[in-house]
Amino acid sequence: MSYGFPEGFVWGTATAAHQVEGNNVGSDFWLLEHAEGTLFREPSGDACDHFHRYPQDIALLKQLGFGAYRFSLEWARIEPEEGRFSVAALDHYRRMLASCHEHGVKPCVTFHHFTSPRWFALDGGFEDRANVDRFLRFCERTVRHLGDLIDTAYTINEANLTATLAATGVFPKGGLKSVASFVKHAAERHGSTLERFGPFLLGDPMKLRDTMLEAHVRSRDVIKSGPGSFPVGVTLAMQDYQAVPGGEAQRDRARAESFDPFLEAARKDDFVGVQTYSRNRFDANGPIGPEDGVPVLIMGYELWPEALEHTIRYAASVAQGVPIYVTENGIGTTDDAQRIDYERRALAGMVRAMQDGIDVRGYFYWSLMDNFEWLFGYGPQFGLVAVDRETQRRTPKPSAEWLGAIARANAIDL
Ligand code: GCO
Repeated sequence: MSYGFPEGFVWGTATAAHQVEGNNVGSDFWLLEHAEGTLFREPSGDACDHFHRYPQDIALLKQLGFGAYRFSLEWARIEPEEGRFSVAALDHYRRMLASCHEHGVKPCVTFHHFTSPRWFALDGGFEDRANVDRFLRFCERTVRHLGDLIDTAYTINEANLTATLAATGVFPKGGLKSVASFVKHAAERHGSTLERFGPFLLGDPMKLRDTMLEAHVRSRDVIKSGPGSFPVGVTLAMQDYQAVPGGEAQRDRARAESFDPFLEAARKDDFVGVQTYSRNRFDANGPIGPEDGVPVLIMGYELWPEALEHTIRYAASVAQGVPIYVTENGIGTTDDAQRIDYERRALAGMVRAMQDGIDVRGYFYWSLMDNFEWLFGYGPQFGLVAVDRETQRRTPKPSAEWLGAIARANAIDL
């Protein structure tokens, strides 16, 4: 059976500045990657040198068949010292946006994707609610320079991620900073303290969650009051939470901690971005590990493409009528045939949800190219395009042709 997607359905790929640009030396993550005893497998270094190579990369994604590109603006480049905005950095992102338009690609822009300027994180980061104003100032200045060229904006990427990692037991309740000494080393080496250093991902999960929720709601209004007229929303880290018999209360508690406050807030947004990769199961005592017989990926979670269908359904049930975009979904694997199989199953699930009347407006594959996967370094390969780490040569994989053909046809054979 062939399923035709609604006219105007958006097909794109996604990246984030720190993961692809290279040499993001003014960011908090750069400090962490180079701290004594770091848990980062390797530093981000040159990444994919996307900072210089974006014109070819945007041309390539268009040629593959995609009509939209989700990328992030690097606050650490735009405001390298507090209150000092770099017009050259803002102009760089203007050129990226213009390049998308030249190729007929919709530029979909994330204002915050994990990294912050080092001065911001060393002075509380998103653990300190008073710092929301500093983020708003960045958004205001940036949208003033770029707003007329933006197609869609996301305030904060996975604003709920730390809550999700805590609820599923991946990180300790106090966050990685409560147990890993390299965070303290990084803070002290740069004149801060463990207490005051609040980098995203490694900081206190619940403080980050609450501040980021406030930052999302307030930055949405700031971004909307700038030039241009485009939809604004938040993107959420959503795993498929399942209960084994007796685990229903634990599953519901985890949903309430990780997802619900953001999905409820999204009712006032233009859309909600669902990002999903796998599932987590709960029994009466809390999260339990992978099920026997289900393959576990290099990321440590199960190969579970059906998560896409279930998270879309859950998001729709709480966000109530707000359009949904899948802003990230994909698999980190060295086996590209496994990627195509994962995608086929994930997209089939998305189609089932759409056939039941859920308003899904677009799908962005994570990621355009193999890139810096945070603590995991360059090990997990999420890309549709391979990147040679020495020469930076790009080579599309069979999955790129496969998904690109679906995007071009706006239809899938199921
Ligand atoms: C996230 C981020 C991406 C990741 C991707 C693969 O979801 O954690 O948005 O930066 O690289 O999800 O793990």
